Amino acid sequence: MHLWSQLVLAVLPSVLPTTLGQHVLYLSGDGWTVSSKALNISVPGNVPSQVHLDLLDANVIDEPYHGLNDFNLRWIAENNWTYTSKPIDGLPSTSKSSWLVFNGLDTFTTIEFCGQFIGTTNNQFRQYTFDISNALKHCNGSPTVSLEFGSATKIANAIAADPNSQKWPSGVQGTFEFPNRWYIRKEQSDFGWDWGPAFSPAGPWQNIYLVQSEGEEDIYILNTGFDIYRKGQINHLAPDQSQPWVVNASIDYLGSLLRPPSMSIEIKDLESGKVLKSGSLDNVIVSGQTITGTTIVDADTPSLWWPTGMGKQSLYNVTVTIQNADDDLASVTRRTGFRTIFLNRSNITDTQLARGIAPGANWHFEINGREFYAKGSNLIPPDAFWPRVTEAKMQRLFDAVVAGNQNMLRVWASSAYLPDFMYDLADERGVLLWSEFQFSDALYPTDHPFLDNVAAEVIYNVRRVNHHPSLALWAGGNEIESLELPSAKQHNPPSYPRLVGDYEHLFISLILPLVYENSRSISYMPSSTNNGFLEVNLSAPVPMTERYDNGTEEKGHYHGDTDYYNYDSRVAFDFISYPVGRFANEFGYHSMPSLQTWRQAVDDEDLHFNSSTIMLRNHHYPAGSPDTHNYTRSALGMAEMTLAVEQYYPIPNKQDSVANFSAWCHATQLFQADMYKSEIQFYRRGSGMPERQLGALYWQLEDIWQAPTWAGIEYDGRWKVLHYVARDIFQPVIVSPFWNYTTGDLAVYVTSDLWEMARGTVRFTWIDLSGKPISRNSGTPLTKQFSVGALNTTRIYETNLEQLTLPDTKDAVLVIDLTARGCLPNADNKTITTFTHRNQFMPVFPKDLALKNPELKLSHDALAGTFTVEAQRAVSLYTWLDYPAGVVGYFEDNSFSLLPGEKRTLRFVVQKDETGGKWVDGVTVRSLWDQTTKF
Ligand SMILES: *[C@@H]1O[C@H](CO)[C@@H](O)[C@H](O)[C@H]1NC(C)=O
Ligand SMILES: *[C@@H]1O[C@H](CO)[C@@H](O)[C@H](O)[C@H]1NC(C)=O
Ligand SMILES: *[C@@H]1O[C@H](CO)[C@@H](O)[C@H](O)[C@H]1NC(C)=O
Ligand SMILES: *[C@@H]1O[C@H](CO)[C@@H](O)[C@H](O)[C@H]1NC(C)=O
Ligand SMILES: *[C@@H]1O[C@H](CO)[C@@H](O)[C@H](O)[C@H]1NC(C)=O
Ligand SMILES: *[C@@H]1O[C@H](CO)[C@@H](O)[C@H](O)[C@H]1NC(C)=O
Repeated sequence: MHLWSQLVLAVLPSVLPTTLGQHVLYLSGDGWTVSSKALNISVPGNVPSQVHLDLLDANVIDEPYHGLNDFNLRWIAENNWTYTSKPIDGLPSTSKSSWLVFNGLDTFTTIEFCGQFIGTTNNQFRQYTFDISNALKHCNGSPTVSLEFGSATKIANAIAADPNSQKWPSGVQGTFEFPNRWYIRKEQSDFGWDWGPAFSPAGPWQNIYLVQSEGEEDIYILNTGFDIYRKGQINHLAPDQSQPWVVNASIDYLGSLLRPPSMSIEIKDLESGKVLKSGSLDNVIVSGQTITGTTIVDADTPSLWWPTGMGKQSLYNVTVTIQNADDDLASVTRRTGFRTIFLNRSNITDTQLARGIAPGANWHFEINGREFYAKGSNLIPPDAFWPRVTEAKMQRLFDAVVAGNQNMLRVWASSAYLPDFMYDLADERGVLLWSEFQFSDALYPTDHPFLDNVAAEVIYNVRRVNHHPSLALWAGGNEIESLELPSAKQHNPPSYPRLVGDYEHLFISLILPLVYENSRSISYMPSSTNNGFLEVNLSAPVPMTERYDNGTEEKGHYHGDTDYYNYDSRVAFDFISYPVGRFANEFGYHSMPSLQTWRQAVDDEDLHFNSSTIMLRNHHYPAGSPDTHNYTRSALGMAEMTLAVEQYYPIPNKQDSVANFSAWCHATQLFQADMYKSEIQFYRRGSGMPERQLGALYWQLEDIWQAPTWAGIEYDGRWKVLHYVARDIFQPVIVSPFWNYTTGDLAVYVTSDLWEMARGTVRFTWIDLSGKPISRNSGTPLTKQFSVGALNTTRIYETNLEQLTLPDTKDAVLVIDLTARGCLPNADNKTITTFTHRNQFMPVFPKDLALKNPELKLSHDALAGTFTVEAQRAVSLYTWLDYPAGVVGYFEDNSFSLLPGEKRTLRFVVQKDETGGKWVDGVTVRSLWDQTTKF
């Protein structure tokens, strides 16, 4: 299992014949034992792995995701577990120094080598090295490595129980299942979250190496910090695009360099294979165990890296070699790109005011100096057990992101720092990754040992991922400024100033300088949702003065991004209630996964909407403690989904109970998708409104397991209705109705995120549900010409339902078809493209429609590999193609409307097939009509 891309290059003699006698043993793989003395269990183990996975492999436990194992497997988290290697034979006795290198241990580890104590660890996110030279010298026979993992849940509780540990006002800290997560540096959602289970896994979750040096001057590369930025660039100021590039190559190593070394670089264009630059690096400095050098690349020489939809993802191999007078000592290659990415939080200028932008501050991203609309979602841990997150699965996920017209993901703050292979996938596909440090929905300690531990974690991870052009931002944590501090103020006003001070100490005074020292290319903000800063003064004790609420109460002033949830489904489509800001980084509502996905985790007898298993897998709202279940809280979340369906959609009432369950799951997905669509089109319209809104990242991209959550993609990769609908509404040019169902006002807007003006026509067609035109088009013009500016919106039609001549509002659909011509927002390619978009408007909610059976007909063309759907008799709303278990992929379009006589021919993009092609026979089609039928 070779998961992370490794630094093994330096150690492969075939690649680097001149590397001196360094010996590197890869200790990952099988041949380990996992045991618990207390439980009298001993089973074969792997590295990288976690205890749950090895117990599963050994058949000691059932799949952790099955049924209620989230609760039943607490005993694993509550015990200590020891990983022991097999005896390591054949270690050369001549080596001068030996080390153990751990790329990740989860989390509290006591390490022994040959029975001798070597050290301890207490941070899942750090790379650790231990000198074992002495232990090896005194070892008789073949040594073993032993790693005892303490129970993280118990250790967190013990720290909390210590009278000297920091405490917070009650009601502030977010507890999901296991408490006290904020005391420890472990994936915070391992202790439970409102979309996930609480397994608190333990184990050597990343690779282990035994490194030995033979000579005087051997070095082993541990990590790199490669930084590419415009000369003079400072993290919080807009980069000057006319400046040359600085390439700063910094390398962390084990071993020793005797004489002042030199460094050389080669930058190779991966498309043409041409060398862009080669030669020695300047300003070579050795400081501690780090060696750094720089070089300059002309401003216009490299081809730029762009996000998807905005140009090419040009990539370069940067190879840096460390040399002494005679030899190459070590060499490392990182694939990287040339781009600037900047979070603009500067005050609104007079020029911007003159353009109609409301006063306040900017809060948007700029790629290579250009504003763009950020479209995407929030990425959560793709699995509770990282060692089983495969590259193949993540490829499918990132392909779905790009197919979904998403150009940015927010890598949310209580997961783990993403492995390099995921940044690699994002680099290749042009997906920007707004990345966060692992702190979320809590206040954190500020004692020195904690801060030192965090500092090491920050430095390691900032350096490790900095060369990836997809890296877009560093944020200190999630919802700390927008939720935790206000909650502390409310619960305990006297302690508020101290708690703000602690917040600023950790997230500004400590972390900001560490980011700036290790990256000139990436913007930093202390927490996910905020109103930007008033000032940055790098010599001040608190170098960034956050704005907090200063000036935000002034009417019509906007300063920041928004995070908005409202589980009162009665206002789900009341766009007046949506937040107005510069950027939306979180919003959403949960829904059920599909029947196919439920079947992976739940027994047949539990396939009822409110069966105890299904309810207890719903963690909105979380139990708040690990002591088993809380039906009261689970019921709240189930009720939110139920009420939302009942409010707006036909209520499923099928005779067959599994079919009924499936129809209910689908109904919750229809509501979810419609609500997100309503919000996304509102936020996108804001690009042309005074708030100059430039981003919509919904909560959440994908699932960690099979459960009711906010995800658009289910655990095994199946798209919910949401991911299709988001793909549709994230297209570059869209047309959207805005309906105030209280006043009857209806307005239709065209919104574009192209970088130049687009022109086109919108066709309005009022029909009844059998497809017949409504007389005189109900008073609505048949077409409207429009032009829409760059990153802008334009209202093309406005009316009130009272002014329309609709015979029956329950039997009417306005079909809105857009055709536009314009240039893709693409810096490399100026060809004119035709854009089309269909939307529809119904003057009542779906449950009140006088639906008719569209008599859908589905046919499959095996030769062409396509499916054709036809509505034979009536309008088909929310036309839904479904596919069986055993295959992963997506239809080219789904959840669309079809008029009678209209046909759609679509492909299904297969990402993985375990049915040997048989899945085609299981494809079905349904529509809103089928939600109303008994069978
Ligand atoms: C479990 O590990 C912790 C921390 O490593 C240690 O303090 C504790 O004594 C261990 N418990 C047992 C029962 O071995
Ligand atoms: C780029 O570097 C990687 C190793 O990081 C190597 O596998 C690949 O072959 C290199 N590509 C070229 C064109 O040199
Ligand atoms: C931005 O405006 C605020 C007033 O809202 C002011 O306090 C601050 O100093 C300004 N910042 C800069 C960098 O000019
Ligand atoms: C205004 O900013 C100052 C300095 O950051 C802060 O102390 C104060 O609490 C802020 N006031 C409001 C209302 O947010
Ligand atoms: C379950 O949740 C309810 C509502 O939050 C709470 O009042 C109750 O104390 C909880 N019960 C248990 C056993 O934790
Ligand atoms: C309709 O508009 C009124 C007045 O602007 C507003 O108060 C209300 O929230 C809107 N309702 C809906 C459903 O959008």
